[in-house]
Amino acid sequence: MSSYGMTIIEHLLMKQQQIPFATGAFSRLMSELVVAAKLISREVNKAGLVDIYGFTGEINVYGEQVQKLDEYAHKTIIRRLRHTGVLCAIISEESADIMEIPEPFSRGPYILVMDPLDGSSNIDVNISIGTIFSVYRRKEEGGPVTLDEVLQKGSEQVAAGYFIYGSSTMMVYTTGQGVHGFTLYPSIGEFLLSHENIQIPKRGKIFSVNEGNYNYWDENVREYVDYLKTPEAGDGRPYTSRYVGSLVSDFHRNLLKGGIFMYPADSKDPKKPHGKLRLLCEASPLAFVVEKAGGYASNGKKPILDIKPNNIHERVPLYIGSVEDVKMAEKFLRGER
Ligand code: AHG
Ligand code: MN
Ligand code: MN
Repeated sequence: MSSYGMTIIEHLLMKQQQIPFATGAFSRLMSELVVAAKLISREVNKAGLVDIYGFTGEINVYGEQVQKLDEYAHKTIIRRLRHTGVLCAIISEESADIMEIPEPFSRGPYILVMDPLDGSSNIDVNISIGTIFSVYRRKEEGGPVTLDEVLQKGSEQVAAGYFIYGSSTMMVYTTGQGVHGFTLYPSIGEFLLSHENIQIPKRGKIFSVNEGNYNYWDENVREYVDYLKTPEAGDGRPYTSRYVGSLVSDFHRNLLKGGIFMYPADSKDPKKPHGKLRLLCEASPLAFVVEKAGGYASNGKKPILDIKPNNIHERVPLYIGSVEDVKMAEKFLRGER
């Protein structure tokens, strides 16, 4: 029986009922995250009419200029979730260190990791952007949250997903049993199930990479991308190139249609020897989603989900999407061709 049109809250409660001894803590976390996303979506959709464009004048831990909407999204999620009593800490792309849930708020077993606004460079030009989130369970029963509790492998995630603020606002998430998409109906303010049990095609015909970095890539990466442009690659036709510049948007398109997104190591660019994307806030959550949808995510050599972060803001090369495409990329990167 299809659950098409089910609200996200109903979906969470249905999943909760299937888990023995579930306390409802996870459902609480997710329902507040949904409220935060609705607030962010509203600001995104009226950006340009109010002074939410542009920069705050601050620089984040990556040395990047912080956009007002980055900060708005970051603060909104923190404000909504810190009173839920189910979190002990938040890790954000926009904060250098672990943000422990402070007194007087009560704490719980979950750690939220987030990229509050992904694709910031696209805010001012009306191209879709997103929010990426990931949930881990802490290892200790109580006390201060340690770095070791935060630096967990992606395979240890309890849940992961993203919101995409595009032609419509969608939420895609997984708790490990299937990947499900919900579309926001602004007139009723509800996310309704629109994409149940998403499965990414085993192989696609789309490649997504910023070719402006071509001269910074290793030879094997260049050979792979050159191969994709030959008729042999796509059984008689070259692959199609699509690159939005918002990871969530490029990822979401490939999740539904198949294909590969790449952000390779820029070995000749001292600023990006391991590429640009963050392991904890971007690569691991999307790797969890894509693998639960039948796809695969790699750093070019090994599964993203097997990589234990060395630090909160570690960057990692990312090859993610249809399993056959990502495996082919790994073969080229091993020099096997
Ligand atoms: P963020 O806005 O969170 O910093 O992420 C931007 C990322 C990602 O969304 C996108 O895939 C990538 O930056 C684009 O980088 P380039 O402009 O270097 O291609
Ligand atoms: Mn990002
Ligand atoms: Mn961001």
